Amino acid sequence: MTLTEDAVFKSMRRTWQPVGNSADLPAGRVTGYTLLETELVIARFANGQVLAADVACPHKGARLSQGCIRDGDLMCPYHGWKFDAGGACRSIPSLLEPNAGKQALSHLRTYAVQERYGFIWVQLEPGPLADGREHALPPVPEFEDPRWAYRMGPPMAFAAGWRREVENYLDMTHFAFAHSGTLGVSADPRIRGMEIKVTPDGGYQMDAPFPALETAHEMPGKLQSAHHRQQRSWLPNFTTIRQRFTDGDERVLVHIPSPNTRESCTCFWSLAISPGFRGPPPEAQMDFAIKVLEEDRRMCEMQLPREVPINPARGGWGVLVMPGDTLANTFQKQLRRWLAAGAAD
Ligand code: FES
Ligand SMILES: [Fe+2]
Repeated sequence: MTLTEDAVFKSMRRTWQPVGNSADLPAGRVTGYTLLETELVIARFANGQVLAADVACPHKGARLSQGCIRDGDLMCPYHGWKFDAGGACRSIPSLLEPNAGKQALSHLRTYAVQERYGFIWVQLEPGPLADGREHALPPVPEFEDPRWAYRMGPPMAFAAGWRREVENYLDMTHFAFAHSGTLGVSADPRIRGMEIKVTPDGGYQMDAPFPALETAHEMPGKLQSAHHRQQRSWLPNFTTIRQRFTDGDERVLVHIPSPNTRESCTCFWSLAISPGFRGPPPEAQMDFAIKVLEEDRRMCEMQLPREVPINPARGGWGVLVMPGDTLANTFQKQLRRWLAAGAAD
């Protein structure tokens, strides 16, 4: 079946996508975000409520993301029209008399918002997905367990399509090359014993022993040491990596490349570290993860085309090799199934 890029974004409008880290949006802050080619204003009001709405002011189209919170309302920077946390127009300063009709016409187009796992999530369109159920955020109990150290990564913009980022995150054979500066120069790119299974929700899970990575100059540190790696993907773009080290310590990382446009995305990510972790402290682990992600960003941004084609074609997905590319293939296959079912509803 031939799918279109339109079908991808159409289905993703019904999913929850991150648009910011909660901690980066204190009360009184106004910002912008482009989600699935829809430009949004994101604002937090004094009561903590977050508004997500179309960015253009209903008056003359000024970007409300350039506005501010004034006297409890979101104020447009151009002519000072004000909007409340529900998007209702509360005042039009240039009017001699208040005009309820004009105010009603000027209601912002708002979107559903929720906050969880330290992220602000927006759903552009309500409604069930192909399986008849509303999209829900995947459960990751470790992210909400106060015994675990939980850290939010700084969101990173990629000049690459979101599927490039997913494939990169899944990739088990790039460490020796793309991460020679961080993870190790003599890593073995051959992965043995990779086991992939499709999950009942249409996602998939990979289990594999991960070999110790070595650098030329030093003994492998805890983060480079041999561990069991479990990658779990919830379609379309929520993927966790769970690392179990031989001493029983664990880490759970999530990547969610939230699409800005067809050829750009912002990678939202966080890390949970098991209680009593024997290794670098959380801050050092975050610094290390940022360096690794920078290396991945470079790889994603140099790939052509900028997004993985949604339809398999010679020269599109590339010359693929097994087992190295099996996981990326599973992603593309399951994503196409997910989209095809969505298109049929
Ligand atoms: S454009 Fe926003 S108040 Fe005029
Ligand atoms: Fe990587």
